[in-house]
Amino acid sequence: APGRVNLIGEHTDYNGGHVFPCALTIGTYGVIRKREDRTIRFYSLNFTNNGIITTSLDDLVPSEAAGWTNYPKGVMWTFEKRGYHLTAGADILIYGDIPAGSGLSSSASLEVLTGLMLRDTFGFDISMIDLALIGQYSENNFNGMNCGIMDQFASAMGKKDCAIFLDTNTLNYEYAPVKLPDARIVITNSKVKHSLVSSAYNDRRRESETALKDLQTVDIKTLGDLTEAEFEAHKDAIKDPVCRKRAKHAVYENQRTIKAVEALQNNDVALFGKLMNDSHVSLRDDYEVTGIELDTLVEEAWKIDGVIGSRMTGAGFGGCTVSIVKDDAVDAFIEKVGTAYKNKIGYAADFYVVEIGDGPVKLA
Ligand code: GLA
Repeated sequence: APGRVNLIGEHTDYNGGHVFPCALTIGTYGVIRKREDRTIRFYSLNFTNNGIITTSLDDLVPSEAAGWTNYPKGVMWTFEKRGYHLTAGADILIYGDIPAGSGLSSSASLEVLTGLMLRDTFGFDISMIDLALIGQYSENNFNGMNCGIMDQFASAMGKKDCAIFLDTNTLNYEYAPVKLPDARIVITNSKVKHSLVSSAYNDRRRESETALKDLQTVDIKTLGDLTEAEFEAHKDAIKDPVCRKRAKHAVYENQRTIKAVEALQNNDVALFGKLMNDSHVSLRDDYEVTGIELDTLVEEAWKIDGVIGSRMTGAGFGGCTVSIVKDDAVDAFIEKVGTAYKNKIGYAADFYVVEIGDGPVKLA
């Protein structure tokens, strides 16, 4: 199952707006063998020092000691909760080539992979979208990260050379071919280590919910229901100025995403890039989820000729930026952004010129 990058539409999924992610050709790979008893044995080729981690179907509770296996365990727990009864344990081998902690959704990819392996091994009839929802549910309720549906949906539903224009209110989606004549998608990994992504993320979610409640003198279900003009007309109902800024981002970012996808469909790559840049400004100033590392990467990128657009992607604080860069500027981009980042932040960023891949593939 693949990792993902989101081209535009950030922190809009749990606010009832649109996102525009695509699956990558890197991901998580697994082999599963059903057992006779109720034991579960996990082994990851990425964490060979941990050896085989043994647990049981009767012990599906999160724990710090369980480390990465909390993700597959959470999916098993959700299967049981939804009535997909696991009649036996399993031996599960995992390998991933998504750089660790990079914000390219290795956890969602592992959740979707686990769901798929369980579905096919135990013979359940579950759609790919339901596997994405199971992954999100387990991440929210087993792993305590209140994420939206974007990451799991992108991993489960990815399509080669297409991004997914997803309305997270209805889960209606459309594949939009990403045609970038003479340009590439470049991901830059800030490699920020000390990050409070999940606590800050849950804070943002609460702040947006407060804003929504204040706004519900108007008949709306989510912030994604509002246009910019409707928001401006009613924003004073939001009492706390911080919550007002959060809501502003959610509303404007959703509208920007709709416009950006239209721009791409009209082959207006320049407009698409400008909307990406505006998205970053809004994430920096109104949603406040960037930080010096991501801002440095993006602001350095903006200075370079041949950069069509650049912004942070994913939850923020650390993780990656995504940039659309003209073919003949890619080398200069990596050189210049890399040097400026190292000088200012003190350690090197990583760069990946990526391909958009398919969703999960079953090899045997
Ligand atoms: C993380 C979450 C997603 C989404 C993004 C921000 O990746 O897992 O659900 O909210 O952050 O857009």
